[in-house]
Amino acid sequence: MTQKRSWMDPFRKARPIYITCDGGLEGVLARELETLGVPEAIPSHRGVGLFGNRQLLQRINVESRIANRILVPIAEYPADTRERLYGGARKVDWSRWFKVDATISIDASSHKSEHDHTGFIAQVIKDAICDHFRDKTGRRPSVDRLAPDIRINARIDRNHCVLSLDSSGDRLHRRGYRVEIGQAPIKETLAAGILALAGWQPGDVLIDPMCGSGTFLIEAAMIASNRAPGLDRARGQGFGFMNWLGFDAMAFEDYLTTLEERIIHEARPQIFGADNNRSVLEKMERNAERAQVAGLIETETCAVVDLRNPATEHADAAMHVISNPPYGERLKPEHLERLYRQLGDGLKSEFGGAIATLIVSEESPHRNLGLAPSKTRKLRNGAIPCRLLRFEVFKKGSFVTKSKRPARD
Ligand SMILES: C[S@@+](CC[C@H](N)C(=O)[O-])C[C@H]1O[C@@H](n2cnc3c(N)ncnc32)[C@H](O)[C@@H]1O
Repeated sequence: MTQKRSWMDPFRKARPIYITCDGGLEGVLARELETLGVPEAIPSHRGVGLFGNRQLLQRINVESRIANRILVPIAEYPADTRERLYGGARKVDWSRWFKVDATISIDASSHKSEHDHTGFIAQVIKDAICDHFRDKTGRRPSVDRLAPDIRINARIDRNHCVLSLDSSGDRLHRRGYRVEIGQAPIKETLAAGILALAGWQPGDVLIDPMCGSGTFLIEAAMIASNRAPGLDRARGQGFGFMNWLGFDAMAFEDYLTTLEERIIHEARPQIFGADNNRSVLEKMERNAERAQVAGLIETETCAVVDLRNPATEHADAAMHVISNPPYGERLKPEHLERLYRQLGDGLKSEFGGAIATLIVSEESPHRNLGLAPSKTRKLRNGAIPCRLLRFEVFKKGSFVTKSKRPARD
């Protein structure tokens, strides 16, 4: 007898998946996805597209260090009028994906389109979803803007609407360890992307002389100990896909157990941080404890002007200095210029042979470093347009002292 199927798994075949990231990280995200088993990852603007099944989608959510969110497009259609915007969303078989008891929220965005009011777009899509469920079940899902079970992403670009389910839920940089922050912390996913762009690998020395709440250091320690970035979140706050129909909780738990077994407990990476603010270092230490990597990072309270190489006994290892110095929001211009000069002097006198990678704002006085970057790349740190500068610091006596025009790649 054939069993009546009231629900058909939308993942019975591989589907298109779209993974978002910060602008400038598309290439390193695509490479990371290949290491996670994606056969073909295609970089595009602020993201990467691929085809994958449910297991791959779950794996990327838990194991990608660079992805911001992972979207599953479920409909696309012209949406130049309210009727068309509603009609396209009304045609989606929402009850294949989630139950009426789930709470929902719609993130809308619009670019060069008839409808540019994101609140209006979200309202129309929500009405279509509620009408779908009311017809099917006589009930409708409730909206929860803060902590919904199901997040729906509506993006309209030149009157073309793409509706996607957000399999991540909350954005992936929220790993769960960074409860306490200093001034201007960098996002965890951006820090992981910068480590990849810098070419830092486990076994290399890493030094962040202005480490603040320690995002570069903690991300590096998690990489060195092979600790999946989403492991704690999977057991805590969770991911959006865990609320979808067809989610197999037992198989997922088995997968998490294999990830835990792969953690390298005897890892001894050479990871060092400094900051002149003792209280921010204490926050960093508590964050590292929450991420279970506190034993892998050494820190000291030290101003840049007194910077010393803490890794002299690891002279054989490749050395990376990676940092995001203050951009100047809280410092007078002359203090900021002095700080960049001190940092440049410290790099030249203490870190000959190292590769230094600094994320600085467009406005910051990076020419005061007195070093010529071998590469610059545009990046955004949240709303701030930035540059990632790479310096090959020459051994004492042979460094380039004045920045000319920065090279571009
Ligand atoms: C932009 S924040 C770094 C944020 C860090 N990457 C994070 O994710 O939390 C810059 C840091 O530089 C530190 N700092 C400012 N002036 C300094 C100095 N002269 N010596 C050492 N650290 C300094 C600040 O205390 C602050 O924590």
